Amino acid sequence: MNQPIDLPGASIPGPGSRTLLRLQGKTIALFNVDETLYAIDDSCPHAGGSLLTGKLDGRMLQCPAHGLKFDLATGCMRGGGLSVATYPIYWVNNQAAIAIP
Ligand code: FES
Repeated sequence: MNQPIDLPGASIPGPGSRTLLRLQGKTIALFNVDETLYAIDDSCPHAGGSLLTGKLDGRMLQCPAHGLKFDLATGCMRGGGLSVATYPIYWVNNQAAIAIP
């Protein structure tokens, strides 16, 4: 795994919010759910729809394109089948960093 990349404070969404990151050729959707950050690939594994604007129910994200639901923590689709890439977030000395393999 590559060295985690520090995230600028301005790129970190506040509670209940989300932002889009472009890092190392990837487009990553970053969500703040109950003050926990989750980072996933923005591209839905079903047909490539953007997941950034999906509806959240807890940490379950519904793809706005066709409605499949994914767990932000695991990337797994509800009921199994597809999964979206997830990226670990680390906090060290109040600095968030993301690990991109
Ligand atoms: S593109 Fe996401 S459910 Fe089809």
